[in-house]
Amino acid sequence: MDLSKITESFTESVIREMTRIAHQHPRSINLAQGFPDFPAPESIKNAAINAIKDDINQYSITWGALSLRKAIVDKISKYNKIKFVDPNKNITVTCGSTEAMISAMKAIINPGDEIIIFEPFYENYGPDCLLSGAKPRYIQLQAPSWSLEPEGLKMLFNKKTKAIIINTPNNPTGKVYNQEELKLIADLCLDYNAIAITDEIYEHILYDNKKHISIASLSGMQDNSITINSISKTYSLTGWRVGWAIACERITNEIKKVHDFLTVGAPAPLQEAGAFALSLEDEYYQSLKDFYQKARDILFNALKNTNLRPIKPKGAYYMMTNCKEYMKRQDLKTSMDLAIHLVKDIGIVTVPGSSFYANPQDGQFQTRFCFCKKEETLQAAARKLEKIGY
Ligand SMILES: Cc1ncc(COP(=O)(O)O)c(C=O)c1O
Repeated sequence: MDLSKITESFTESVIREMTRIAHQHPRSINLAQGFPDFPAPESIKNAAINAIKDDINQYSITWGALSLRKAIVDKISKYNKIKFVDPNKNITVTCGSTEAMISAMKAIINPGDEIIIFEPFYENYGPDCLLSGAKPRYIQLQAPSWSLEPEGLKMLFNKKTKAIIINTPNNPTGKVYNQEELKLIADLCLDYNAIAITDEIYEHILYDNKKHISIASLSGMQDNSITINSISKTYSLTGWRVGWAIACERITNEIKKVHDFLTVGAPAPLQEAGAFALSLEDEYYQSLKDFYQKARDILFNALKNTNLRPIKPKGAYYMMTNCKEYMKRQDLKTSMDLAIHLVKDIGIVTVPGSSFYANPQDGQFQTRFCFCKKEETLQAAARKLEKIGY
C-alpha cells in the first residue's frame, strides 16, 4: 500500500528527537529543544486555574476567545506598531504558532507556488511548505554575521513566488532583521504580490539594545503579510499551545477555515490566561530580557573557552557554534556524530547543524545550544564544557 509521498519526503523533527535522546541519558543536560526548565509566571498560572474554576471549559469561538483577540489588538498596536487589526476580522487564534504557520500556508498556496526560506531555518518550515503543496526555495545566510545579501534574494523572487518566511529574532542564528533588510523584503513582496509570513515568537527576547521590527508595520504591507506569534516563548508556556495569525480580512477568512477543520480551537481556559499574560506591564518584558541576556552571556563565556566556536546571538535563546576544528581533532564526520559525542562524552544535548539546512552537508560543522534554562543549569553545563578545552 502506498502511503503519502509528501510525508515520506521528510523526516521527523531532529530537535524533538534530541529531547528523546536526552531522556535516554538522564545525567545529560538538555540544551537541545527550546523550552525553559524554570516555572512559568505564577500570576498567569493562577489566571488559567481561575478560568478553569469559572468553567471556561468548553470550545471557545473557533477563531479565538474575544478577550484574547482584544488583548492581541492592544499589544500589536502598541508593541508592533501595527494599527489595522480588528479583533473580529484579522485574527485567528491557533494551537501555537506551529498551527498558525501551517494554516497560513494552506490558506494561500496553490500547486506550483514557491515559498522562499532563509537558511539556516527553524526546521518546521520545510515540511510545512511541502504539506501545503508549495515548493520551498532556499537562500543561505552566512555565519557569523548572518547578513542578507540583496542580489541573491532578488534573483530568487519570480512570478511563482507566493510567500517568503521571515523569523525575527531568529532561531537558530539569533539574527534580528533590521529596517533596511525588512524594507528590501517588503518591496520585493509588493513588486511580486507575494506574502511575508513572519514568525515573531521571540519578539521580546532581544540583546544589546536591539529593537524588534514587524514587517507588517511597514508601509503597504497590510495586505501582503501574515504575522504569527504565540505565548510559548514570551511567557515560558510552550506546553499550553496558544498562538495566533494576523492578516488582512481576505487572508484571515481562509486561515480561519483551515484552522477550524484542523483543530476547531485552542484550549479555552488557556486563551483566557493568555489574555491576562498579554496585559502584563513593561517590567515583565524588561526582566525577561535581563534574564536571558545573563543566560546568553554565561553560555557564551563557557563556549568561548572551548574549541566549539560560538556565534553571539542578538535575539532569541539559541547559540550556533562552528565546530570544524574540534570535529577534525575528534575524528567526527557529521554534525549528528558530534551531537551524539557531546551527549555521551560531555553530557550535553544539542541540535546537529544539519537539521537547519535543506542540504545536511551545509550544517555539517555546526551544532546549536539553547540557553532558556535556570542559571544553575547553565553553570552545570559550563562545568561539563570545561572537558572540551580550547
Ligand atoms: C522559530 C520558531 N517558531 C515556532 C516555534 C513553535 O512555537 P509554538 O510553541 O508557538 O508552536 C518554535 C519553537 O521552538 C520556534 O523556534
